[in-house]
Amino acid sequence: MRTKLLQEQDIEEAAALIRQGEPVGMPTETVYGLACDAGNADAVRKVFAAKGRPADNPLIVHIADIADWAPLVTEIPPLAHKLAERFWPGPLTIILPRTSRIPSVTAGGLDSVGVRFPAHPLAQALIRASGVPIAAPSGNRSGSPSPTTAAHMIQDMDGRIPAVIEGGSCICGVESTVIALDDERSVRVLRPGFVTPEQLAEIAENVTVDPAVLAKISADTVVRSPGMKYRHYAPNAGVTLVQGGQAEFLQFMRAHTGEGVLALVFDSDASACEAENIPYRAYGDTDEQRAAAFFAALRDADAAGVQHLYVRAPRTDGVGLAVYNRLLRAAGYDIAAL
Ligand code: TXA
Ligand code: MG
Repeated sequence: MRTKLLQEQDIEEAAALIRQGEPVGMPTETVYGLACDAGNADAVRKVFAAKGRPADNPLIVHIADIADWAPLVTEIPPLAHKLAERFWPGPLTIILPRTSRIPSVTAGGLDSVGVRFPAHPLAQALIRASGVPIAAPSGNRSGSPSPTTAAHMIQDMDGRIPAVIEGGSCICGVESTVIALDDERSVRVLRPGFVTPEQLAEIAENVTVDPAVLAKISADTVVRSPGMKYRHYAPNAGVTLVQGGQAEFLQFMRAHTGEGVLALVFDSDASACEAENIPYRAYGDTDEQRAAAFFAALRDADAAGVQHLYVRAPRTDGVGLAVYNRLLRAAGYDIAAL
């Protein structure tokens, strides 16, 4: 089975596949997802199999109308409701206790479910046409960089799933911010994303970034968000996160340049960097633009046969925190602090 590339006008065909219990590649504003009927345990098992994903790592459930949230969770506290009103549709996933509408396999065996209302018009169209809530992890093979184009999804999933919907390049480029509520006033960030802790603090009194976001976690540690413990987002090339100012970074690269080495640099480093390099940015040099370009840059490095990638680390505030978190995992915590 070759994976078929569907276009906007084929949404009904994609929705029919979802209703039949088949997985379909779905564009969202964050990254492409591997979509299936969240309530169909067999379809969910196909998604886990196509990704090679550990069974204890829960899937996010996507809706296209806030009213479709209530049946999935036991209760929507006022704070959750306020956050949804402010950030949905958009890149925020809110975890709450689940009802039996979400099968245990979808939730990775947990008693909670993360729900998100994506902003991408084709994701919304697919959810509406399918008529069911849609479970979708990122559309990469487990451990690989997340796909930010339909071509990346086909790279990982060709022959494993029937179809991918073409939806262009993802605007955010990093996965959604995943949060849980600690109490009626407090939000805990389990995975940083395009919705930043600073923005969440405009709605919630207390915002905590879970220590696991920046810490090294061994495979047997119990964490609030199971996805945090796996090596993730990694290209085939070795990755080192290089932390320091521009002058230190350029000096470090002078000493580490060589055959098979590539530096992933800020736009402003490119002209002075003596090592082979590419800037990770889409159209400029902000944290947002770096986020949008980051996963594609990891895939490009592999396509170019790079053996080792040195990446200039972004700051850890704003959207930079999301890129830093993915980079840390891609590097397997190999950090050069200058
Ligand atoms: O932007 C996104 O969130 C994309 C698009 C497709 O929507 N999806 C995505 O899914 O990134 P995935 O499965 O690659 O990452 C979901 C993360 C995992 O780290 C998982 O452990 C965590 O969210 N997660 C999901 N449900 C959870 C729950 N009930 N409790 C704790 N963590 C949860
Ligand atoms: Mg993922």
